[in-house]
Amino acid sequence: MHRILSRELGAGKVLVGEELVEPYARDESGLGAFLPECVVLAGSREEVSLVLRLAAEHRVPVTPRGLGTGMTGGALAVNGGIVLSTERMSRILEIDRDDMIAVVEPGVVLGHFQDVVESQGLFYPPDPASLAMCSIGGNVAENAGGPRAFKYGVTREYVLGLEVALMGGELLRMGRRTVKGVTGYDVVAAFVGSEGTFGVTTEVTVKLIPLPQGVATMLGVFRTMGDAGEAISAILHRGFRPRALELLDRMAIDHVRPKALYRFPEWAEAVALVELDGDPEGLEASMLRCAAACEEKGAVEVLVAKDEKERRQIWQARRIVSSSLRDAHPSKIAEDICVPRGRIPEMLRRATRIGDKYDLPVATYGHAGDGNLHVNILVDEDRRRPSVMARVENALAELFRDTLELRGTLSGEHGIGLAKKKYMPLEQPPPLIEWQKRLKRLWDPMDLLNPGKIFP
Ligand code: LAC
Ligand code: ZN
Repeated sequence: MHRILSRELGAGKVLVGEELVEPYARDESGLGAFLPECVVLAGSREEVSLVLRLAAEHRVPVTPRGLGTGMTGGALAVNGGIVLSTERMSRILEIDRDDMIAVVEPGVVLGHFQDVVESQGLFYPPDPASLAMCSIGGNVAENAGGPRAFKYGVTREYVLGLEVALMGGELLRMGRRTVKGVTGYDVVAAFVGSEGTFGVTTEVTVKLIPLPQGVATMLGVFRTMGDAGEAISAILHRGFRPRALELLDRMAIDHVRPKALYRFPEWAEAVALVELDGDPEGLEASMLRCAAACEEKGAVEVLVAKDEKERRQIWQARRIVSSSLRDAHPSKIAEDICVPRGRIPEMLRRATRIGDKYDLPVATYGHAGDGNLHVNILVDEDRRRPSVMARVENALAELFRDTLELRGTLSGEHGIGLAKKKYMPLEQPPPLIEWQKRLKRLWDPMDLLNPGKIFP
């Protein structure tokens, strides 16, 4: 296949050989390496379309790839074949301040896009922790969330229109440029979060909103997780709608402490991060009332960032949680269960209990405002050893059963991919899974586009 692709696209666009394709064999899921036959670095919609046409003709599987920061194996070429990277399609095509929309290619790095948008007084809120190195195409595929989802929602709420290439090569434009629109089915919504199994995004039109003029950020440090949970409830009950409401447990804090710019006290058992935004007038007073709520609920230390530098320090600590855990425990398993907000304290207790029961260290942190908790099982021993495997599997199954018992869901933002597909039947009944498979077959009848994902 790679010879045909090289001939059609030019050799510089097709990577072959273990050394060159190896960087495209992994992602952030820690599920290992899956070497494709070749990697195509597509530079345009026409090239994406051509690859999908040739692959369909030759019945070769294609795995689309953004920048490889996915957490559930969505970009892993489990059946070999072609990895189709859109990293070279990285142009911002348009930012329209009157229409308040932007049109981008899929390979644009999210953080770069946000900087450009904000320099024009506009705002694109979705902010996965990997924002400095993830791409918008990947965000669309996974319907990425992030801390600001609590106030502003996830990627799907911002994607107005898409152009996608379908398996076989057809280019299809869908959606609109207006904020409102109910013409026909919401096909865009179905493509966002389809984990690269329906089509390959070649262009994205997103909604922008006015950049909030003021932002205030604080950290509350607690001696117990229970206190931190109560502080979060108190802030919400008092009518605040923070743009982010994050929580870290002791294990997470201990892992970021060595690299964190903020000096976490040794006694810290839990940390709550609260961020408000809006009109600068009144923002400081609101922040102080949130800080007071934390103190009333037992916060021993409260840091309200007094400038942008302190804000950045606070966020730096939060953004490195996942990578710090991964550095210390390369085989860690990172979950992103989501429970109804009121069940967070119970879910935290159950996660701790599961860790104790199976003798596995567990770090829990995440988007408390959304009930979206990153429960990380910190496996040190090689995950493939049967004795370890069995414990981890049992712990995971119990974690998911507890999540569902509390009326939560398996994935709040990382997707199902390869990592969680076998647990899908715990949450969804067979008919619903079958209808989703039919939808998949509609777009990709030969099951060549990102095969082996989502469904058991
Ligand atoms: C985070 C990523 C892992 O919130 O979702 O850190
Ligand atoms: Zn997250």
